[in-house]
Amino acid sequence: MSVLRCDRSAAWAALQGHYEAHGRDFDLREAFARDADRVAALSFEAPEVFADLSKNRVDTATMKFLLELARECGLEARRDAMLAGEPVNLTEGRAVLHTALRAPRGHGLFSDEVHGVLEPMLAYAERVRDTMASGIRHIVNMGIGGSDLGPQMVVPALDAYGHRELTLHFVSNVDGHDLTRVLRRLNPADTLFIVASKTFTTQETMANAHAAREWFVGSGRQDVARHFVATTTNIEAAARFGIDTTFGFWDWVGGRYSLWSAIGLPIALAIGADNFRAFLAGAHAMDRHFATAPLERNLPVLLGLLDVWYRNFHGFTSRSVAPYHQGLARLPAYLQQLEMESNGKRVDMAGAPLPFATSPVVWGEPGTNGQHAYFQMLHQGSDVIPVEFIAVKTPAHGLIDQHVKLLANCLAQSQALMVGKTEAEALTEAAPTASHLIDPRTLAAHRSFPGNRPSTTLMLDALTPRSLGALIALYEHRVFVSGALWGINSFDQWGVELGKALANALLPRMASGDTTGLDSSTASLLARLHR
Ligand code: F6P
Repeated sequence: MSVLRCDRSAAWAALQGHYEAHGRDFDLREAFARDADRVAALSFEAPEVFADLSKNRVDTATMKFLLELARECGLEARRDAMLAGEPVNLTEGRAVLHTALRAPRGHGLFSDEVHGVLEPMLAYAERVRDTMASGIRHIVNMGIGGSDLGPQMVVPALDAYGHRELTLHFVSNVDGHDLTRVLRRLNPADTLFIVASKTFTTQETMANAHAAREWFVGSGRQDVARHFVATTTNIEAAARFGIDTTFGFWDWVGGRYSLWSAIGLPIALAIGADNFRAFLAGAHAMDRHFATAPLERNLPVLLGLLDVWYRNFHGFTSRSVAPYHQGLARLPAYLQQLEMESNGKRVDMAGAPLPFATSPVVWGEPGTNGQHAYFQMLHQGSDVIPVEFIAVKTPAHGLIDQHVKLLANCLAQSQALMVGKTEAEALTEAAPTASHLIDPRTLAAHRSFPGNRPSTTLMLDALTPRSLGALIALYEHRVFVSGALWGINSFDQWGVELGKALANALLPRMASGDTTGLDSSTASLLARLHR
């Protein structure tokens, strides 16, 4: 497929002109004053997710230019190629088919294979969830990156649906503190270990798996095969480890897109088969939206275009994610891998260095906690950082007063970022905690807010398996969109290889203390650790 890299398109040049004329000095407050229909024009519905994009530095003209960019650069063809199973992961010669994992039986590619694993996996999950019969009370998922972050994020997010007698633990770090902290609380007799690794070779996971097996066998138990299961594409390696129960997946499932596959086993164990199916169905609904909605109402497309607008024209270097739901505490970490491992690339598909920036830094904390930590910088710092608020209308608890406070805070933050406060306004306000020695004008400068700081608000009616599935799929497709426009391969991750190789090379030196041939900084650090 011949694809035009975005910066070589006429639309890119037109966007540059539009930015110079209208984008650089765009003022949100003026835009709202100018256009009474702004909210309606920039509000969008996708399955399970409502999006208010009106507090972003765009207007309908900007969106037209961005949509033109998408069309001229063949975004739809690239999307269709991915969905059709073409090997869009060029450097690894692989298809990218996480969408097939959530298609109903008979509707997606590899349907027999997908459902041939899904059904036995869900049946297994139900057997374990019958805790009287299984005897299992604790489940430890040992995986890292894509084999950890998805389940680790989703299980607490769907706590309202979780099995009350099962406790899920996640161990990822090769740092022994991680496993030790968990094992201290466990009894081998009622513990199930999941070794979750696409490759079954990842250093961290295998180190944890071996240590957990030693702990288990060391307690006098023999039945490793009953208490250890594997989720992997490398079924032979799992068998060599002594595991009989393995749920497989395929090389066309990228690690960071794998929570829909067998890697989702901890999710299925926590929420059960029916809820897991609803989770897949929500993602599938978003897939259909992405595949079929016109670009101008296609939410993943619009969010991806906004990302390009901010990164490449405004030059914003990061995006903060603020889920106003404690259950989504790990969403920013999950999105860091999804976005930064996918789009943190510096060459195009042909290997040519890119003359423009790619992935922003993605970071955040749940609201309202972030408000009492770094929101100061978002409001008054020298960088402009677009913020993405996620609000959930109906809570899964009965503390309604607290929920109302939470939502009021969510709305207030995006309002404050946009509206700001002038020095004149600050001058008229009482500031009881201010020093009485300070000149009022100086104080007003400290107490003013520039405003015009952009944000998006995504809103869910409730955090359910279905809506969470849709939300995650929305993010996956949005990352695809910006990556496709940048002309990069969003599906490889060569950048993590060098560190892995060097760590392996350093391992024998850690034992011997040999520093021969090392750069002097590494040599001195190693010597210090060795003495
Ligand atoms: O960090 C690199 C990476 O390959 C991720 O992409 C992946 O999710 C993670 O390691 C874990 O890999 P595996 O599932 O093979 O253990």
